[in-house]
Amino acid sequence: MRIDIITVQPNLLSGPFSHSIIKRAQDKGLFEVHLHDLREYGKGKHKQVDDYAFGMDAGMVMQIEPIEKCIDVLKVERDYDEVIYMTPDGIQFDQPLANRLSLYKNLIILCGHYKGIDERIREHIITMEISIGDFVLSGGELAAAVVVDAIGRLLPGVLSNETSALFDSFQDGLLAPPVYTRPSDYKGWKVPEILLSGNGAAIKDWQEAKALERTKERRPDLLKD
Ligand code: ADE
Repeated sequence: MRIDIITVQPNLLSGPFSHSIIKRAQDKGLFEVHLHDLREYGKGKHKQVDDYAFGMDAGMVMQIEPIEKCIDVLKVERDYDEVIYMTPDGIQFDQPLANRLSLYKNLIILCGHYKGIDERIREHIITMEISIGDFVLSGGELAAAVVVDAIGRLLPGVLSNETSALFDSFQDGLLAPPVYTRPSDYKGWKVPEILLSGNGAAIKDWQEAKALERTKERRPDLLKD
């Protein structure tokens, strides 16, 4: 899978993708993440990509032309399944959406800045708008990093069997059960006996019960359906 990210701050994103699981996925050739500096498509000496908002006292808006140019250059090379815009008024990002996006081949993610992007880009070029939550970040970059990380770890071969994404919280509509490691007794804080029993079926039952208990306690909204 390939994701092209368009941003005015590529430096904000080079860090998250050069470490850990997402880095390994790229090294293994399972995942490609390409950063594009929108300023390269900006106008004039200052590589301008934004201008004053019509009808508002303050705030800059990202202009159509540099964004369209950048996307057109990418589209010459390949077809894209979605052109995504990160914005707090988009649809809420969740595990089912991460699962769905992980099945695609090529995605573009556009990160907004300032007061946002000219509405006509949203009307004519963007095919999906995603929010990572009901709060406003200073730009779409960190939100894009969240989305790319959640997608990347779902790709076949990225996680080993033991860390398989199938066992994640939310993957079966429940939060994950608690986990423990050695030592089995730390200053009298003991690991539940059942986990040391070697009885696979009983352990699975216990984990399912705990997942349900935790979900009821912390996220009853997930059990509504
Ligand atoms: N850009 C700014 N805030 C955002 C949010 N909550 N989700 C996605 N993109 C954003």
